[in-house]
Amino acid sequence: MNRIARIASLGHYLPSRVVTNDDLAALMNTSDEWIRERTGIQERRFVDDDMGCTDLGVEAARQALAKAEWDVTDVDFIVFATLSPDLYFPGNAVLLQDRLGMREVGALDIRTQCTGFVYGLATADAYIRMGLADRVLVVGAEVHSRGLRLTDEGRDTAVIFGDGAGAACVEVADEEGPSRILSHSLHGEGKHAGELCIVKPGSADSPYVSAEQIEAGLMAPHMNGREVFRHAVTRFPEAIMEVLEAAGLGLDDLKVLVPHQANLRITEMVGKRLGLGPERVISNIERRGNTTAASIPIAFSEAVDEGRIERGDLVCLAAFGAGFTWGANLLRY
Ligand code: UT7
Repeated sequence: MNRIARIASLGHYLPSRVVTNDDLAALMNTSDEWIRERTGIQERRFVDDDMGCTDLGVEAARQALAKAEWDVTDVDFIVFATLSPDLYFPGNAVLLQDRLGMREVGALDIRTQCTGFVYGLATADAYIRMGLADRVLVVGAEVHSRGLRLTDEGRDTAVIFGDGAGAACVEVADEEGPSRILSHSLHGEGKHAGELCIVKPGSADSPYVSAEQIEAGLMAPHMNGREVFRHAVTRFPEAIMEVLEAAGLGLDDLKVLVPHQANLRITEMVGKRLGLGPERVISNIERRGNTTAASIPIAFSEAVDEGRIERGDLVCLAAFGAGFTWGANLLRY
């Protein structure tokens, strides 16, 4: 018998502090008009001082576990995707394992930034298919607010990113059932690593990190926005077509696309290129900002809660981001 996997449930968590574009304009030379026009973002959430990335992941995971009616002891593998971990090492997956009181299960961190959840879901599916696990918890969580430069120098990235977490319970599935994970496409092209990155602390050269480097902003994200944009609008459609073709399906079969919420203009351009109207493309960036590895599970979870995605619907998840990395997952929810 072939082993297949499905998403049993989703959960998400957003910190309560709403940060509007006007709030940011009070800190740096930007405006509500510029941010809305270039990104579609109206507001995002930032954590308060006492909350960290694992804390967000724990809340999203608790919600997903409750919806799947799993006990924490049912989980036999954890995948945690983030670019803003609590510690440089160890990764957030073990911290989550401890916080939730789980068994001593495998705990893997994924470092593919905006594409983290797509890689994480593919990993969970592969582990289940191989028989390495039956019930995998996949989490995407980010705390960007603490690493951004909320100043004129950092304004190109500071206005885009937000905090939040999403989670999925992925389990071995009944072959006769309506839901299953179908196909994946995963890519990377490291020659573009410098276009979107955080340079320090880093072991590539000496010093590992210095006060001067911190002052120069090397611990904050550096982004060549135009270059990222240019690649994103071609890579998203490519990855989406790849997973459809791998499953022997076409765009007409697709109920909805849940893209990584990078920028509303990217999402709209991808929808247009593929001929998918706004009713078939999930977007929540207006209120959530870009939460990198958390953006797909948050948008997916919200769309299920709102009734926009139902059991058995054909759903495509797709992402592009730092690395560059990009990819997609195709599934029947
Ligand atoms: O998920 C992670 C992956 N990241 C992305 O997907 C981001 C992709 N790229 C983008 O979303 C867009 O490139 C941005 C939103 C980052 C920037 O939009 P853009 O239309 O590409 O603007 P730009 O970088 O070409 O900058 C245009 C102008 C510049 O001024 P000059 O040189 O024309 O005088 C910038 O200095 O806008 C200026 N600018 C700002 N102005 C007001 C840059 N940031 C801001 C700001 N407020 N926050």
